[in-house]
Amino acid sequence: IFKDERALAKTLAVQIAASLGGRPDIVLGLPTGRTPIRLYHELGMLYAHKQADFSNATTFNVDEFLGIEPTHPGSYRAFMEDHLFSRVNLNPERIHVPNGVAPDPDAECARYEAEIAEAGGIELQLLGIGTNGHIGFNEPARELVARTHRVQLKASTRRSNATLFGGDLDKVPTEALSMGMGTILKARRIVLIATGKSKAKCVERAVNGPITPRMPASFLQLHRDVELMLDEAAAAALNPQQLA
Ligand code: PGA
Repeated sequence: IFKDERALAKTLAVQIAASLGGRPDIVLGLPTGRTPIRLYHELGMLYAHKQADFSNATTFNVDEFLGIEPTHPGSYRAFMEDHLFSRVNLNPERIHVPNGVAPDPDAECARYEAEIAEAGGIELQLLGIGTNGHIGFNEPARELVARTHRVQLKASTRRSNATLFGGDLDKVPTEALSMGMGTILKARRIVLIATGKSKAKCVERAVNGPITPRMPASFLQLHRDVELMLDEAAAAALNPQQLA
């Protein structure tokens, strides 16, 4: 638990730089959203100061909107270009984001899974969490899809993405492609980051609640190497004694 978002981002960025140092060909899983922005900027700064080298790393993003060109400013690909890819020395050939305009979305999902496997699987998966407990675009549901798949977005998720589309909800796609919970749980190490008081409740439920597809993040309880990095506001609903 960190005092604030800045302290969290700085610490995690330094950890990632160290992981890159120890393993230059690391495979990273990357989220989008408001939460990782500061982390990505810190990584950019470390690169600018020659303290992080991404030249041999491989990245896989968790999700992308369906029907949105990678060059569209609202795409997650464009978000990643803005906040991370343009700021560090990743090799473009080793950057992977699901293609939202692939002619056959199901085939694109299968291709994405195969690419992850071919890269040797994800070593370090970074994640955010939605206030409804979603991970990537794995929304609360009766059942979760294990592998990368096509998904219908919830109204709440579309609303929280409206800023990417000029605040116009009608322009937010209704579908997306997302890694499945199984894809995510296969990563060897997972770090979930959450900041702000709006995340306190879902963090508490993910940690202490039952494992249920109604709270996709609760499945992280089953992983052997998962770490939560929170600011004080996001950790507010956790019992401090439990954390000791
Ligand atoms: P946020 O989104 O970082 O914008 O809060 C997190 C998520 O929905 O996964």
